[in-house]
Amino acid sequence: MLSTLTQEKNTLKDDFLVTKTVILSGTDHSKKRKEILNYFHNSFSLYESIFECLNNESAFYTRPNPLRHPLIFYFGHTAVFFINKLNVTGLISTRIDPKLESMLAIGVDEMSWDDLHDEHYDWPTADEVRDYRKKTRTLVDQFIRTTDFTLPIDWQSPMWIILMGIEHERIHLETTSVLIRELPIQCITPHPIWSNICLTSNSPPSNELLPVIGGAITLGKSKNNPLYGWDNEYGAFHTYVDNFKASKYLVSNKEFFDFVTANGYNQKEYWDKEGWQWVQSREHKLPRYWLKVGDRFKYRTMLEMIDMPWDWPVDVNHYEAKAFCNWKSSVLEKNIRLPTEAEWYTLRKQVDTDQPYWNQAPGNINLEYEMSACPVNRHAFANGFYDIIGNVWQWTETPIDCYEGFSVHPAYDDFSTPTFDGKHFLFKGGCWISTGNYAIKDSRYAFRRHFFQHAGFRYVEAPPLPKPCLNIYETDAMVSQYIEFHYGETYFAVCQDSCRINQPTLMI
Ligand SMILES: [Fe+2]
Repeated sequence: MLSTLTQEKNTLKDDFLVTKTVILSGTDHSKKRKEILNYFHNSFSLYESIFECLNNESAFYTRPNPLRHPLIFYFGHTAVFFINKLNVTGLISTRIDPKLESMLAIGVDEMSWDDLHDEHYDWPTADEVRDYRKKTRTLVDQFIRTTDFTLPIDWQSPMWIILMGIEHERIHLETTSVLIRELPIQCITPHPIWSNICLTSNSPPSNELLPVIGGAITLGKSKNNPLYGWDNEYGAFHTYVDNFKASKYLVSNKEFFDFVTANGYNQKEYWDKEGWQWVQSREHKLPRYWLKVGDRFKYRTMLEMIDMPWDWPVDVNHYEAKAFCNWKSSVLEKNIRLPTEAEWYTLRKQVDTDQPYWNQAPGNINLEYEMSACPVNRHAFANGFYDIIGNVWQWTETPIDCYEGFSVHPAYDDFSTPTFDGKHFLFKGGCWISTGNYAIKDSRYAFRRHFFQHAGFRYVEAPPLPKPCLNIYETDAMVSQYIEFHYGETYFAVCQDSCRINQPTLMI
């Protein structure tokens, strides 16, 4: 039985576990079409496989996190996304199940308009969603096989919408893994792929600060970049980074434990106002995936409780990362903080490859190693640093905003702009399950400060930063204007058909 499982795991690994983002250029249409078709099926199957970790139907309806929908929503959401985007762009005029396509369309980001009341939803059964996914797979497969497109693929291409659907699904692969990590352990069952966690843990290394040479740097990319990107990646931001020092390793569970034992969770001076409010509301003053059993600590991976791997990176939210830095500043009597986005990219310059161009990932990313984090001293990069990319995400000091030259993609106009509010902070570098666009150098993802992802941090010694100014996107007036902007008839003279892709409608 074991050998069958191993064999199955290896076959699956070869088939769809490790994938590479599609390069948008080329000259051979049929080759590119086949590549996109494979990428679609790999992503769709990989996504379905992670839901096999739920051990019964009721786990689909157990809310892992009070601020998120139950997993049944996410199971259907990524399929519904394909159909809705193909319809909104006029590429198809076919609906598979209008009720599901409405109910499973919008996720939650704790905006004032989010609806988290279960009584407002008549959730489908898991089998109904499986059936919906099957029909979607057939439709999208057929679309990819038959649609006309030119190379290179650009924002206007029908294939862009397919890639948007695939990359959206890969985002949810990772966010779903976080939700599964938050489910009660009794909802979980072992899995031939997803149970394959790192088995190594040794004494944690002691961290140190290493120099990084600064200089002028330009962030952002142009529209002719050969990889799919979300709208917030385009444009340019020119800045200058002073020389600074950065920690050699990501902060390990052990290094963070020193903050815990120094009573860091109970000392107001280490927390900013919001962070202190958050920590006061927490019953357990420990990182989210730690559990204290007697005088020992356990660690929750996605599917298991294991003995604490002290040399693996800690997973914390932005508040905790900042509080640790403030504590570390007082211990070292230095100015310690998180890196800015530009400082992180200055460090990232020391990595001379990117997904999809590497043969093997230089760090624990893209599902190329195990299905968990691993020791912080396993993946060495240049100049003494470890984990410049991969293992866990690295929080930064920078709230996400657009670069100069930004414009929204009309097929997904609420992807980025609601996060330009000073409340969503960038994290960089990807983690063990980051694939597709999540795993490329130019991607930009930001989350609210109290959110948990597979995210930790490395710290820097650098001058203090000015306080960032907050946008006011979420006021009622701004929301009203935004809605009018999209759904009004001629407001701001924006054509309401602007999101239609210039291609005849396909009836499939
Ligand atoms: Fe989504």
